[in-house]
Amino acid sequence: MIISPSVLSCDFGNIQRDTQMLHQSEADWLHIDVMDGVFVPNISFGFPVLEAIRKHSDKVMDVHLMIQNPDKYILDFKKSGADILTVHYEACPHLHRTIGAIKEAGMKVGVALNPHTPVHLLEEVIQDLDLVLIMSVNPGFGGQKFIQASIAKVEKLAKLIKEKNAHAIIEIDGGVNLETGKLLAEAGAQALVAGSFVFNSVDPQATISALKKL
Ligand code: DX5
Ligand code: ZN
Repeated sequence: MIISPSVLSCDFGNIQRDTQMLHQSEADWLHIDVMDGVFVPNISFGFPVLEAIRKHSDKVMDVHLMIQNPDKYILDFKKSGADILTVHYEACPHLHRTIGAIKEAGMKVGVALNPHTPVHLLEEVIQDLDLVLIMSVNPGFGGQKFIQASIAKVEKLAKLIKEKNAHAIIEIDGGVNLETGKLLAEAGAQALVAGSFVFNSVDPQATISALKKL
């Protein structure tokens, strides 16, 4: 299992310390949540914070854009250190073009689906994707309750990927803990994002190791 702890739940007054802690942990990726206050009802952070994180870890930066009009900023995210750039299906009227532009910029490309967005809408682009991010909460905040219906979505997505002979990694974001993580692993998830479960635990590195074993 690929583990991508969400930096959104870290202590931003100690971002160097927390990034170094993640860097030394068994985490595979660092999940970076960018929110614009328009696509989602919250504002998180932008380029200077990505660059600060990049300075303290060379792990894969798994950047989740919860923003309108992501096309405008693709090159800036590349310059700030993003390795994987994930955009929301709901924010991209010309998704095929956006996918091409992210690849052209030299990054892996992901598409995120809100809880109400069905998996089959990716049918025509699935072969072009490196990752699909299933949102198991409504995006905008850490610490929300896991939406159980996400498990069936993972199963549907795994089926679609197989049918189309595609290679996209199935990643899940929101309300992930050891209990939901186990069900997701059984359903076919290959990467788990975890924010509050990691950072609110007594020993975040041990929590990451436990998730990694799922
Ligand atoms: C939610 C973000 C998540 C968030 C997950 O909009 O996309 O990445 O940090 O937080 P937890 O794991 O606390 O649900
Ligand atoms: Zn996220």
